[in-house]
Amino acid sequence: MTRLRAVVLGAAAGGGLPQWNCGCANCNAARRGEIPPQTQSSLAVTANGEDWLVLNASPDIGRQLAASPALHPTALRDVPLKSVMLTNGDIDHVAGLLTLREKQPFTLYMTGGIAEVLAANPIFGALDPAVVTRAPVALGESIEPVSGLSATLFAAPGKVPLYLEGDGAGLVTDMEGEQTVGVELSAAGARLLYVPGCARVTPTLAARLQGADAVFFDGTLWEDDEMIRLGLGVKTGARMGHMSMNGPSGSIAALAGMDIGRRIFVHMNNSNPVLVPGSAERRAAEAAGWTIGQDGMEITL
Ligand code: MLT
Ligand code: MN
Ligand code: ZN
Repeated sequence: MTRLRAVVLGAAAGGGLPQWNCGCANCNAARRGEIPPQTQSSLAVTANGEDWLVLNASPDIGRQLAASPALHPTALRDVPLKSVMLTNGDIDHVAGLLTLREKQPFTLYMTGGIAEVLAANPIFGALDPAVVTRAPVALGESIEPVSGLSATLFAAPGKVPLYLEGDGAGLVTDMEGEQTVGVELSAAGARLLYVPGCARVTPTLAARLQGADAVFFDGTLWEDDEMIRLGLGVKTGARMGHMSMNGPSGSIAALAGMDIGRRIFVHMNNSNPVLVPGSAERRAAEAAGWTIGQDGMEITL
């Protein structure tokens, strides 16, 4: 039977919760077991319950797969993971490809721009081209990455990966092109959108989100200057290519009033107060109709 099913493999942004070098209140609470730890950014999707597409290969993919029975090997060297799709070239979305290197066939979908980024990094040659097919996908092109699932990549405002910023001069943090994309998935009449990185909601993006059964959206920060205020860094969310949840220019406001079945935040940075169940910020997001994604969360449409 064809049914669109999605499992959050990792709900956190780069670094995860806790992040190895972070002593912030959230990371310490996660270490003490007071709030649920979250691994790094990834979503698994199937349309037939057997063949799975993994969206983004996080550095935590090994334990994410181990924690997901539906993705366990089905034979000596056969796995339900049939394809991987990338939404950008950030480390939290590509480093896990190195874990998938054990001569296991799958197809790797990404834009031509991200394919060039991978091709320029010889370490990804560890994915033997004889068994792992790299398939560049044009924006707007409709493909079938696993049986019964239709997928389209579309530009989401964002920037190049951090490691390609150079000295940052002239950096555009909300460009629309092949460096940061969202994914539209559909099966059996259901439509799901996955946008883990987004600098702003343009009218074009809003039109695409309208009427979706589920939207998984960039939940990196609650407030744009959150990391600065907490003493964790010098960058705003906007500088990192991520819009925040709260405020008049935030994602909660941007999607308010739209016809969207389920709205779920993913890619939360460990500084984000919504990671604390019961926090005022989490209750505000929930009151606005959002669910805070977490590892292992599953939806069926
Ligand atoms: C991001 O989402 O902004 C990046 O994952 C940051 C990073 O590469 O650490
Ligand atoms: Mn990220
Ligand atoms: Zn932290």
